[in-house]
Amino acid sequence: MISDESLLEFAKEYGTPLYVYDGDLVVERYRDLFKFIPYDRLKIHYALKANYNPGLLTLLRDAGAGLDTVSPGEVVYALKLGFPRERIIYTANNMTDAEFEQVLAMDVVMNIGSLSRLRKIAKQHPGMKLCLRFNPDVCDGDNEKTMTGGDLTKFGILLESVEEVKALVKEGNLRVIGLHEHTGSGLQHAESVYQSMDNLMAIATPENFPNLEFLDFGGGFKVPYKPEERRVDYVAMGAEIARRFTAFTERYGRRLDMLFEPGKYMVAEAGHLLTEVNTIKCNRTRVIAGCDSGFPQLIRPVLYGAYHQIRNLSNPAGKPVVYDVCGNICETGDRFAEQRELPEIREYDILAVGNAGAYCYSMGGVYNLRPMPGEIVVSGGKVVSERRKLTTEELAVQILGECSAK
Ligand code: LLP
Repeated sequence: MISDESLLEFAKEYGTPLYVYDGDLVVERYRDLFKFIPYDRLKIHYALKANYNPGLLTLLRDAGAGLDTVSPGEVVYALKLGFPRERIIYTANNMTDAEFEQVLAMDVVMNIGSLSRLRKIAKQHPGMKLCLRFNPDVCDGDNEKTMTGGDLTKFGILLESVEEVKALVKEGNLRVIGLHEHTGSGLQHAESVYQSMDNLMAIATPENFPNLEFLDFGGGFKVPYKPEERRVDYVAMGAEIARRFTAFTERYGRRLDMLFEPGKYMVAEAGHLLTEVNTIKCNRTRVIAGCDSGFPQLIRPVLYGAYHQIRNLSNPAGKPVVYDVCGNICETGDRFAEQRELPEIREYDILAVGNAGAYCYSMGGVYNLRPMPGEIVVSGGKVVSERRKLTTEELAVQILGECSAK
């Protein structure tokens, strides 16, 4: 746990905007899952897309975590960081032939989510070892843009296509070692987790898939974002998950690995975005606290209407005032919070945007040519890694260096 005093010191030392991550909390979340889900062949493949900070990844690598990767770039990155290839799964999404070949050459398990790709594999890569992604037919998540199961999404192979899948597997003499599903991000109902598991386990029979080594039930474990939100009872949920999976393995007398791929659960709460307020102004109806970050650096409120807690670290006991907390980008939607009551904010106060560990830096960009913030990882009470913010000069040179006139 990083104290508010430490956060203020980091803001002073490194400057704002700044992402600060609690590395110990991330490792704790990873280890907790093994306590919550009592199944001895549990494997956790952290969803790298949520936060690719190398300091955090190094801690997770050393703790034994695997990775869920979604692009050739993520696979390359993971290998460079020293993750053993057998701990990496590549879940493709509309991949090109070139991407397929690139990842194949890196020798990580590929998770195939379309009949179209499976047909090509059956013809061109006989004997290939792979995992198959199915759509679990369950739709859940904290936002309709990130619900990945059900009829309206592009993901996975339909459960009813299993016979066609089997025919292709036979045709290509393929070795299906894993089945996968992912229901959505920020799953609201424990029942969705169980139902998706049941739907995948229903087709995971030895007759359908005799070579299975694992079932992968994706990510989606939610964490509270709003102060009044209750934390999921992961002890109860984990026990139920283990019970169902154990019953499934015993039914067929085969011991399989059980995988999950959490992103948010592992890193969301470990991150803070520190930003300094430089302008307080009032228009007719709103008091505006203008700060030195903006939506390209933390896009979830604008993109999903997501709620992120904001704390005024510099004046926590100030009298409450209702603010629009706005960024420095030339768009009206550039708000971290709209009409939010906060302790009085003064110019030069430091705000901490909470739950900024998942899908914040990683979804960032340099719109308006503002470099992404620096990042630091804290572990054992000290900063163990830092990624510095580019200067505006460096950003300009980088972009120009990528371009040439024709
Ligand atoms: N596995 C697969 C195949 C996924 O597509 C995802 C997330 C995960 C695992 C990890 O899900 P998590 O445990 O993090 O919920 N940008 C959105 C979330 C997008 C999630 C996409 N897929 C957000 O900020 O809410």
